[in-house]
Amino acid sequence: MTLRVLFVCLGNICRSPTAEGVFTSLVNTNAVFSDSAGTGAWHVGEPPDKRSQAAAKRQGVDLSGQRARQVTKQDFHDFDHILAMDSSNLAALERMQPAGARAKLGLLLDHHPDSKLKDVPDPYFEDGFDTVFQLVKRACEGLAKDLKV
Ligand code: 4NP
Repeated sequence: MTLRVLFVCLGNICRSPTAEGVFTSLVNTNAVFSDSAGTGAWHVGEPPDKRSQAAAKRQGVDLSGQRARQVTKQDFHDFDHILAMDSSNLAALERMQPAGARAKLGLLLDHHPDSKLKDVPDPYFEDGFDTVFQLVKRACEGLAKDLKV
């Protein structure tokens, strides 16, 4: 059976597409389906931010085929795990979560082996895209280990 994992941030153009791209590159895609979405709708239909794409490409991960979408209530039924990039995304997901849904909610950085951060910093208005990539990468490696995939 395929394990379904959804990564969620605010815009779905920087952090969660990076997590989707990295996780997809780490796992057996026959065993795991990865996707990403945003709690906000501003960037729906757009490819990932050029700066996120460039940081990922420098590390051999291609984000160019992704398109932003917004989280839906159906996602809580369709995914086994929904990993938020920060605490405010997690709070938004908790408010949306329908009763009886199957998805387990959590923070991506809870799977990082030694990060003192709980939240992946939002690089959109600042910079630090390479730092975000490395943080997300180590957390995705931890997630793969924790989920045994
Ligand atoms: P993300 O970054 O949540 O990592 O995709 C953001 C992208 C866009 C905006 C905020 C954060 N925005 O306000 O448009």
